[in-house]
Amino acid sequence: MSDALILTETHGDGERRTALIRLNRPKQLNALNDALMDQLGAALLAFDRDDAIGCIVITGSDKAFAAGADISAMAKFDYMQVHRDDFITRNWETLLQVRKPVIAAVAGFALGGGCELAMMCDLLIAADNARFGQPEIKIGIIPGAGGTQRLPRAVGKAKAMDLVLTGRLMDVQEAERAGLVSRIVAADKLLDETLAVAAVICALSGPSVALAKACINKAFEGGLRDGIDYERRVFHSLFATEDQKEGMDAFLGKRAPAFKQR
Ligand code: CAA
Repeated sequence: MSDALILTETHGDGERRTALIRLNRPKQLNALNDALMDQLGAALLAFDRDDAIGCIVITGSDKAFAAGADISAMAKFDYMQVHRDDFITRNWETLLQVRKPVIAAVAGFALGGGCELAMMCDLLIAADNARFGQPEIKIGIIPGAGGTQRLPRAVGKAKAMDLVLTGRLMDVQEAERAGLVSRIVAADKLLDETLAVAAVICALSGPSVALAKACINKAFEGGLRDGIDYERRVFHSLFATEDQKEGMDAFLGKRAPAFKQR
């Protein structure tokens, strides 16, 4: 489909493969509109249900991961319309339902809703040309897809205030120092390096990977005591899996584990 707003493919030759989703509005720097977010959400849920997929990567173009929500669409919105359509809540947060790890592979601009989409992912691998920001203040709004909440948790209050209140962009080195970015890689190696990280995750035990992700999200999204209680319950439950037995037996037997995904 040449007019598809996302393009999907799979990579890897192990038992579980990596799903790659490319945002595909290059002329608009991947500005995120409703139709694109519907297609992205449907693809994410389908890959999450597919047992042959162990990890999902979302990427954009060399120039932009995504330059934000589509301003030409939003310019016509009024209060009643965004309220009635449940704008953002209706289809932007589908990503948060995904239990498998989702990696954002970011080159170029990740601004506004694009930065917020990247922050909803679990790992953020960035090319050395990546730039991040929440410039909504410059167009008379504020971040509306979680930026005022996730950015301070990721980079601290001082830098979040600086970015959100001035709308300035930060380069990838600043973003990595601040804790927004997991790894920086050369722009021409972004996909190779990201797919290599995804392949490592695909080879691991899917249940423990999904539960480790859920525990870290508890730490990120909730209070400390709730998070630790949640972690303890999940930790105990993993002793009911065959992969725990296999993983530990393999370690003690000095051999590679053969995870069964259960
Ligand atoms: N929405 C719609 N179109 C966009 C867009 C956006 N967010 N960002 C870029 N585009 C379009 C431009 O209008 C332009 O289209 P035309 O060729 O038809 O004129 C095309 O993409 C290329 O953009 P530029 O010519 O501006 O490219 P540049 O290299 O000179 O600048 C940029 C790049 C700095 C990213 C600049 O495009 C820009 O500032 N974009 C807007 C960034 C922004 O404000 N994002 C926040 C949006 S609000 C939001 O996201 C709300 C939320 O929290 C959910």
